[in-house]
Amino acid sequence: MSRVDHDPGFALYLHWPFCRSKCPYCDFNSHVRERIDQERWRQALLAELDHYAALTPGRRVTSIFFGGGTPSLMEPATAGALIEQAAKRWRMDSDVEITLEANPTSVEAANFVSLAAAGVNRLSLGIQALDDAALKFLGRGHSAEEALAALALAQRHFRRFSFDLIYARPGQTAADWAAELERALGLAGEHLSVYQLTIEENTAFAGAWRRGDFVLPGEEEAAGLYETTQERLAAAGLPAYEISNHARPGAECRHNLVYWQGGDYVGIGPGAHGRVTLDGQRFATRQHRAPEAWLEKVEVQGHASGEHRPLDAAERRDELLMMGLRLSAGISRQRFKSVVGQEIEEALAPQSLALLMEGGFLELDAAGLRATAEGRQRLDALLPRLLG
Ligand SMILES: C[S@@+](CC[C@H](N)C(=O)[O-])C[C@H]1O[C@@H](n2cnc3c(N)ncnc32)[C@H](O)[C@@H]1O
Ligand code: SF4
Repeated sequence: MSRVDHDPGFALYLHWPFCRSKCPYCDFNSHVRERIDQERWRQALLAELDHYAALTPGRRVTSIFFGGGTPSLMEPATAGALIEQAAKRWRMDSDVEITLEANPTSVEAANFVSLAAAGVNRLSLGIQALDDAALKFLGRGHSAEEALAALALAQRHFRRFSFDLIYARPGQTAADWAAELERALGLAGEHLSVYQLTIEENTAFAGAWRRGDFVLPGEEEAAGLYETTQERLAAAGLPAYEISNHARPGAECRHNLVYWQGGDYVGIGPGAHGRVTLDGQRFATRQHRAPEAWLEKVEVQGHASGEHRPLDAAERRDELLMMGLRLSAGISRQRFKSVVGQEIEEALAPQSLALLMEGGFLELDAAGLRATAEGRQRLDALLPRLLG
């Protein structure tokens, strides 16, 4: 049985907000700083972990995820201290998944041994492209060769690894992408994340694209690239379990499944979000976004929560639909009932549901509700009709 059918578990997300340089496509909460006081950051992250552990005693942690930013720039001792503290404050699942996002530069690869010794057992590498010209366009600080070397090291030191690719780049033809995917398959382990390049507001690419500095593949072309990706990876034993994520069945990223299945997770570090159930009520939490303001607040009050509010039934329903319909397996009836408190048919407008099912975008049966492959490709357009 695939992981997707299991109870989602309880996850811990830790955000490291720094990068060596800012990639022109990226709108994550990531910043470039000349100097980072690693010791101050370590203490502050530990303090915020303690704050949330006190709120959620007795939970069993099934995954920890160091995201960013570039957490491979964190001192390995910091990752180690956080893992150790988490094990002291909560119970740890015997099979806990501990992932760290890494950039594939040689400097960071040199830390892989210490990160593995600190307890990290899954590495997610941001390779993005296997072609130097594309890497240059994406503003990456590594070559394809460096990325391959980092990948070989990751393979050696971590039980599980994955890497990210970005496709639908300017000028990328179907044949180019098919060839790149073949090479990627030759390098892949149990998991691959394949994202379509999106232009996010307030990034360098947003301005450049508007000025016409580059042209992206059209909608139809991009849809063709998406279909090629789905077909080729599925045929190679790595079917999509989520819009952009592919895995051998059983090797899905357990951490991300917690988000997509509406499970509980604690979010620590600048801008981190969390969802925690306290005394039967589900709360949304969000930490202060700006790194320095976050650090100062934690040092004064032990945490930097900017938001901590209960979610009502409509919000819980909308969130579960937004997240769960990203999954190929969709939302089980049991998950829906336990998160929303109602059956699927009671919580959704019958006409919208019927229309989307007739259109071939949604399926509802004894197992639950899921978007079809067509539906998943158009989820942004479909959701307002379902939620409205
Ligand atoms: C938090 S980032 C990556 C972490 C790490 N700092 C890195 O760059 O390798 C997660 C992933 O999202 C993807 N991503 C970020 N912005 C994107 C965009 N605008 N379009 C497509 N993929 C994007 C990239 O593949 C990236 O590796
Ligand atoms: S893609 Fe990764 S390295 Fe680049 S700015 Fe975003 S988080 Fe930093």
